[in-house]
Amino acid sequence: AQVDKGGYKHFMAKEIAEQPQVISEAIGHYFGASGHEIRGLDNLSFDGVNRMVMVACGTAYYACVVAKYWIEKLAGIPVEVDVASEFRYREPPVGDDVIALFVSQSGETADTLAALRYCQGKAKKIVSVVNVAESSIARESDIALPILAGVEIGVASTKAFSCQLTVLLTLALEAARQRGTLSADRQADLVSALRGLPARLNIALDSEGVTEQISHELAEARDVLFLGRGQMYPLALEGALKLKEISYIHAEAYASGELKHGPIALIDPNVPVVVMAPRDALFDKTVSNMQEVMARGGKVLLVSDRKGIELAGDGIWRSIEMPGVEDLLAPILYAIPAQQLAYHTAVAKGTDVDQPRNLAKSVTVE
Ligand code: G6P
Repeated sequence: AQVDKGGYKHFMAKEIAEQPQVISEAIGHYFGASGHEIRGLDNLSFDGVNRMVMVACGTAYYACVVAKYWIEKLAGIPVEVDVASEFRYREPPVGDDVIALFVSQSGETADTLAALRYCQGKAKKIVSVVNVAESSIARESDIALPILAGVEIGVASTKAFSCQLTVLLTLALEAARQRGTLSADRQADLVSALRGLPARLNIALDSEGVTEQISHELAEARDVLFLGRGQMYPLALEGALKLKEISYIHAEAYASGELKHGPIALIDPNVPVVVMAPRDALFDKTVSNMQEVMARGGKVLLVSDRKGIELAGDGIWRSIEMPGVEDLLAPILYAIPAQQLAYHTAVAKGTDVDQPRNLAKSVTVE
């Protein structure tokens, strides 16, 4: 079917706004209209699985890094994540106690497909998480899990990323259920929180006005640093990727705790530092990292909930407020401000948001 911009200025803006709806569809697909039971993953057995390898490129790779935190934490399965172009040539050992999982929006990325083929006949199961159900990666997998994001046209991936995360969290919950690592109550609580996510995504979308204003200032920067801890570290990586892809501003992300091992040397008033910090168990640590930045004249843009922003104090430069959310879901919720920041900065700079220079939606060459 022909897809249009539906009144939005760019496909990217439309695709950002669609996230509450497409995520609810993904939740409906995997959990039904009500209840806590997972559907459609019964043929994915974690019996005898000692390890998972997750392989992807670009934004899909960052979705894998978030999922590593979830799967290890919820199900206790060690997860190795790699970019496809490294994985395939490294020729790593993959045995029959390994689930090999490939994440790809298009399902046609050449390096990811080659990595998948490398695992065929070695891994216990080849699983893929794809948007295009009839793609090569889906067809060559033992199990292909759809993300149901609908057609994504903007070269910079947005709704596919959050739908990938939703499906990967579902997979982590199923692994935890099968291995008995999560109490039934906690499992039910997490599924309820997931069902409540689309409403929170809608609230997050409402901070667009504030984000747009900040983006005008961000557009003046030559370099931007993104920081996050734990599962928010890969989200910081994704925020930096989005910004550089479409606004052409140099952006880098670091795990907050690594700040002192290098990037702190770059801090000055001209380098905005975007901190992705929901009020989770690591929040206090992140606040001290922010203080290190502010003490050196750095400008902190804090993305957190109201209490988090309050606790961070007066020294912060700007803030974007998110609704409170179950800790594990924060990477999905905070994807929205990361995307909106990149989008509005690119619009302020007048770049070609949907078709950034030198990039392709699907890279089918090596
Ligand atoms: C390209 C796109 C990215 C995407 C990556 C992986 O680089 O520009 O947005 O994340 O490919 O694509 P895939 O279709 O495998 O998810």
